Amino acid sequence: MTDSITIALSKGRILEETLPLLAEAGIELVDDIKKSRKLVFPTTDPNVRVLILRATDVPTYVQYGGADLGVTGKDVLMEHGGEGLYEPLDLNIARCRLMTAGPKGGTPPAGRIRVATKFVNMARRYYAAQGRQADIIKLYGAMELAPILGLADEIVDIVDTGNTLKANGLEARELIDHISTRLVVNRASMKMKHHQINPIIEKMASAVDKRR
Ligand code: ADP
Ligand code: PRP
Ligand code: MG
Repeated sequence: MTDSITIALSKGRILEETLPLLAEAGIELVDDIKKSRKLVFPTTDPNVRVLILRATDVPTYVQYGGADLGVTGKDVLMEHGGEGLYEPLDLNIARCRLMTAGPKGGTPPAGRIRVATKFVNMARRYYAAQGRQADIIKLYGAMELAPILGLADEIVDIVDTGNTLKANGLEARELIDHISTRLVVNRASMKMKHHQINPIIEKMASAVDKRR
């Protein structure tokens, strides 16, 4: 029996690096996604369709079975919590670090610290594990502005080259975790559609290995 498979991809910086890995699993988009306003795309495999979503929505679609498979950042997965998901493969793309950062040359306050971030769950967990009292302020972007404008003492954000921190008078302080892009699978789909999902995982895994 052949089931249909839905794969949720993250738009933005990881999409272009994801497509060649999928192509090696025999799954290629037919349309030019850059020119299309569609959100659901057919592929060269008649049983596979692709959704292009915000990275933060990918775990939710996969968790509730709207998609069988998904591709998103480990940061997004940790923030979501990962319920209902298997994470069988590290795609080894968009590697970066989740870090705390603050004004260059400054020191964090001794008592309660104010932290601006879009990763509120991870920040709460991190400061609690350090035994530090933290007030977390939710932002949706441009976290680097918050310390400069006196909104927060520190931020929790993604760091790659460090250029964004530097350009805004900040420096990295502590490493929270290493981040890369992961393939996730809905738990029920993994059981019910394993005969179709396993070959996709295996082919993507060998594509990842080839690039190491
Ligand atoms: P968003 O709009 O949610 O920030 P992005 O496309 O910028 O989405 O980022 C997608 C994923 O890529 C993030 O969840 C993270 O895992 C990773 N990422 C984010 N920023 C960087 C960066 N500067 N360098 C490398 N990887 C990054
Ligand atoms: C990401 C992240 C940092 C920056 C880090 O932002 O939130 O601001 O990249 O990269 P760097 O260390 O190499 O400078 P992004 O460009 O994705 O912007 P956005 O998510 O706020 O839209
Ligand atoms: Mg971004």
